[in-house]
Amino acid sequence: MKSFASDNYSGIHPEILEAIQQANIQHEISYGDDSYTLIAQNNFEKEFGKVTVLYAFNGTGANVISLKCCTLPFQSVICSEFAHIHVDECGAPTQSIGCTLLPVSTPDGKLTPELVEPLLSRTGNVHHTQPKVISISQSTELGTIYSIDELKTLCRFAHSNNMYVHLDGARISNAVAALGVSLKEATVDCGIDIMSFGGTKNGLMIGEAVLIFNDKLVENAPYFQKQSAQLFSKNRFIAAQFTALLTNHLWQRMATHANSMAQLLANEMKAIPGVTITRKVQANAVFAIIPTPAIEPLQKQFPFYVWDEQTHELRWMCSFDTTEEEIIRFATTLRNLI
Ligand SMILES: Cc1ncc(COP(=O)(O)O)c(C=O)c1O
Repeated sequence: MKSFASDNYSGIHPEILEAIQQANIQHEISYGDDSYTLIAQNNFEKEFGKVTVLYAFNGTGANVISLKCCTLPFQSVICSEFAHIHVDECGAPTQSIGCTLLPVSTPDGKLTPELVEPLLSRTGNVHHTQPKVISISQSTELGTIYSIDELKTLCRFAHSNNMYVHLDGARISNAVAALGVSLKEATVDCGIDIMSFGGTKNGLMIGEAVLIFNDKLVENAPYFQKQSAQLFSKNRFIAAQFTALLTNHLWQRMATHANSMAQLLANEMKAIPGVTITRKVQANAVFAIIPTPAIEPLQKQFPFYVWDEQTHELRWMCSFDTTEEEIIRFATTLRNLI
């Protein structure tokens, strides 16, 4: 099957698979006290500077750990109406943290101080949950990207209002590759307090990393990780994958490829009469509207999701292993259907 459904439909990059194989040699201490986890820690520090790293099996788990570190049960998390934590995690953050999510309408999936400010009017009022975190996704669920200036402005605003900034980085590699800066410049240097660093959507078999930059959030984090059932006894197999991801810029090579495939896909598709690309293509996602009768037959050959059942807007995702040839076949199939 060739698909444009999600970047987690793809398999494992050979360099990642090789790293798993290499870690499968002898016995190692369990629960992250092994040599592979130590090497991964050093690699993360080379990229980000001082950082506490914990691991999770999936993005939902990484978000739950991160938000637990930042909140008490009477506090709230401000996020976009499209945020994965709000829409796609079956209520995991609210269920396991006990705090409230405050979703904000946003045309492009991004939050700004102007959009967040109205939610702060009841700060200090005991009858209302107290906003404590601004949670953003980079790249966003709509495939858009916060610029460095936008990130800095939002972090400054959050901190001046006694809030933390959490970054859901399931696709951080795609965003940073597109911004053309270093991982550090796009995250901790902007003022991000805590983030997930996505692996599964960028060539890993399994695993996400929680990166904690703000020392105030570190103390309870390992307990939250364990209590959220995210502490892997054989952590070396997750850590080894991250070492491979951070070696020779593999994260960037894969993400740059996926992003450029999305550009090609958008260009090929918008040349087809009746096809509209509906959002800016900044990372590895393309959103489109096509003639409705073509949707199902196209999906049968190349699976993808309908993003919005009301408007029939579609989402096409590119991965590290998407090829030009697949894109041309996908576009030709749609052209023929239309
Ligand atoms: C923005 C975002 N965050 C997190 C995730 C991770 O989710 P999962 O728990 O399925 O790994 C996803 C996956 O679709 C995502 O799109």
